[in-house]
Amino acid sequence: HHHVQFATPEGVEAIVDTGHFHPEAILWQRLDTYQKEGGYQLLAECRAGSIGINALMTTLESAGLRGLGGAGFPTFKKWQFVRQEPGPRYCVINADEGEPGTFKDRYHLEKSPHQFLEGALISAWAIEAQALYIYLRDEYPGLNRVLREAIAEIERAGLSEAGYIVLRRGAGAYICGEESALIESLEGKPGKPRHRPPYVAQQGLFGRPTLVNNVETVYWIAPIWHRGADWFAKQGRNGRSGLRSFSVSGRVKHPGVHLAPAGITLRELIDEYCGGMAEGHQLSAYLPGGASGGILPASKADIPLDFDTLQDHGSFIGAAAVIVLSQQDNLQAVATNLLAFFADESCGQCTPCRVGTEKMLTLLERDDWDVGQLTRLAQVMQDASICGLGQAAPNPVLGLLKDFRAELAQQQIIVSDAANHVSERGTP
Ligand code: NAI
Ligand code: SF4
Repeated sequence: HHHVQFATPEGVEAIVDTGHFHPEAILWQRLDTYQKEGGYQLLAECRAGSIGINALMTTLESAGLRGLGGAGFPTFKKWQFVRQEPGPRYCVINADEGEPGTFKDRYHLEKSPHQFLEGALISAWAIEAQALYIYLRDEYPGLNRVLREAIAEIERAGLSEAGYIVLRRGAGAYICGEESALIESLEGKPGKPRHRPPYVAQQGLFGRPTLVNNVETVYWIAPIWHRGADWFAKQGRNGRSGLRSFSVSGRVKHPGVHLAPAGITLRELIDEYCGGMAEGHQLSAYLPGGASGGILPASKADIPLDFDTLQDHGSFIGAAAVIVLSQQDNLQAVATNLLAFFADESCGQCTPCRVGTEKMLTLLERDDWDVGQLTRLAQVMQDASICGLGQAAPNPVLGLLKDFRAELAQQQIIVSDAANHVSERGTP
């Protein structure tokens, strides 16, 4: 183990034991600095009763705060659902950020663990939770250290009872980011998604009503309260409201986390926030929502990016992991890479996903793509998979078949409806 010390204009900010696996240097805001900026005041006022739950929920509603793990479910409504259920209740923070291309939760946690912890404790307060669990992906070992230190700081300061916040490590499974698989994993079982209903709001951790919120969702609670619902809502563009943390990767000059208006278009995001395309690359395609949100052609770079705006194009924004591709990227390689990922990460519980992802991968590895077979297989996976993984796995392939016929032909992929007909009775 070695320690890294940072000097900033204000003095030494943080000393982090980086561990020996991924020596990463992390500069984070300590408790005293956060408190000087008004940190933990909202939590104190909530607990003291000078701010009521209804006032806070109304503020979050008018700010338009939605689940930023990717599903965009209105935050205040989720709180309401859980509050309606009898206690004891639990609060769980999903910090298992695993969507390929997504790294914004990590960014916020690394910079401001206390702003996150305050939001998490307020969510727990909002549903009168017995305990607050944080499920952190183990691929972020430096963050584990930061969070442990930050939690110890607030426990010492009397802001959270010792043991109330439980930090748990994931074990490298993408599926454990699915809320019910995450809960199974917290209970010590293999991470396999549960059937819905019941929703976790009704029966979650240890069978009790459970609030599951994403890291970034709760990260915004304190700033929205202090700066006002309007401040947050007005950040949007093209008729949308709020701010989004775009994780941008791929063929742009400046990849990284870019805090940008909800509703920004891809073209605007690249030009205004990413310094344009990387040298020698022209935009050919983009994945707006990581591996699962489908793939869109360059001709669709002017659609506002937000929840609900991409569904007509067979796509979704999810956790805003924007992967930018160029003419130098091979579309077959993209498709097989994504399907290999899903096949690897499928929990294997249901056949349409376990067999479907493997089968689709084999079909994509060939140089003649059979549209009929691929679309029928995709349909089965979407209709019959238990959880979002199997349902979303065919999205990139469907996108390629819909919008990229010419590009596929250029890359020597024969896409045909005629080849390899299956019989009417045969399954794909
Ligand atoms: P969902 O839309 O089914 O559910 C969203 C949330 O609302 C859940 O917490 C669910 O319990 C709750 N909910 C929905 N209807 C409810 C009702 N009637 N009563 C009570 N609660 C209700 O979406 P899901 O499957 O939870 O998440 C899918 C999203 O996850 C995708 O959009 C994808 O972008 C994202 N995702 C994010 C990843 C990441 O690393 N951030 C990884 C993989 C997927
Ligand atoms: Fe598991 Fe895939 Fe079925 Fe989800 S869809 S439960 S990941 S096999």
